[in-house]
Amino acid sequence: MSQLPAVEIVDVAPRDGFQAVKTPIPTSQKIAVTRALMDAKFNRIEVGAFVSPKAIPQMADTRDVHEAVAQRQNSEGLRLSTLVPNAIGAKNALETGISDLVFVLSASESHNQSNVKRSVAESLGELKKIVEMGRAVSGFKLRVNIATVFDCPYEGRIPEQDVQKIIEESLALGMSMEFGLCDTTGRAFPDHVRSFCGSVTDKYGADLEIGWAFHGHDTYGLGVANALYAYEAGIRVFDAAAAGLGGCPFAPGASGNTASEDLVFTFENMGVRTGVDLDKLLDAAALIDALPDVDTGGHVRSLPRKRVCMA
Ligand code: COA
Ligand code: ZN
Repeated sequence: MSQLPAVEIVDVAPRDGFQAVKTPIPTSQKIAVTRALMDAKFNRIEVGAFVSPKAIPQMADTRDVHEAVAQRQNSEGLRLSTLVPNAIGAKNALETGISDLVFVLSASESHNQSNVKRSVAESLGELKKIVEMGRAVSGFKLRVNIATVFDCPYEGRIPEQDVQKIIEESLALGMSMEFGLCDTTGRAFPDHVRSFCGSVTDKYGADLEIGWAFHGHDTYGLGVANALYAYEAGIRVFDAAAAGLGGCPFAPGASGNTASEDLVFTFENMGVRTGVDLDKLLDAAALIDALPDVDTGGHVRSLPRKRVCMA
């Protein structure tokens, strides 16, 4: 099998996944799922969010989940990030000892207002404060997740220049960062994903200072196809969620994230290494599926294991 460039899959079930579940999930079960994902050898996991508990009550125990799994993070060298919507969230996360932050803003004004109650310009002001805070923190890592890059539930297709403006204003802050190009609604099409991802990686490059990630949802069954087209365009980091859990509560009509197991299965069988143990990932996905009131997705999970896992 040819050796193609490897990818890194960030499992976001403990954040994008859990935030979509209305029934409170006990903290102990969130910890158990996060540990199961660690067992599956993900290099990166997004754990919870430092958001207003009024906006997303399910994320209120993020500090406890991080504290329970942090020791293992240090000993195994994996990255546990957390989502922050503003400078207050970043301050709270940094005080908890988390230095790997995912800041979220949207390319569309309407979604940004409904998600974080701010204009895009105000969110960029929050990002500036976070960058200033981060400069004083050793090992600080920053992902800027741009939601609704391709499609907005309120505004439809988003003009490319709106996203580029956000990229440029973020880079002007002078810190190395990774951009998460998020198909929040799952309504991006593969040709759009390839052309957009290709144009930004060509224009801004992909070196040590700037990283790119594709964050897909599987609402229309296009999650894996979109990820493959992003890969063709040079993207090497992918967000996905075990059991296909997920969805933004402020994006009506969006369903779960692309299932991590579908992505791992596809990439590995194409000769693209992910480093993830698919058998153990299916165990983690089964744990998620057993939680009460979860709306899970994906395909590979429903097949007999011996037809899915390679020796
Ligand atoms: N974490 C916890 N509390 C926060 C907070 C944060 N990140 N940011 C603000 N607050 C608190 C403030 O301290 C203030 O508390 P008080 O009423 O006791 O004084 C209160 O929330 C209101 O502050 P304000 O800045 O006016 O927040 P807001 O009501 O405009 O809400 C957000 C803005 C960003 C905090 C809120 O919309 C949010 O958390 N959104 C997250 C959405 C999300 O996670 N979406 C899915 C992921 S993409
Ligand atoms: Zn998402």
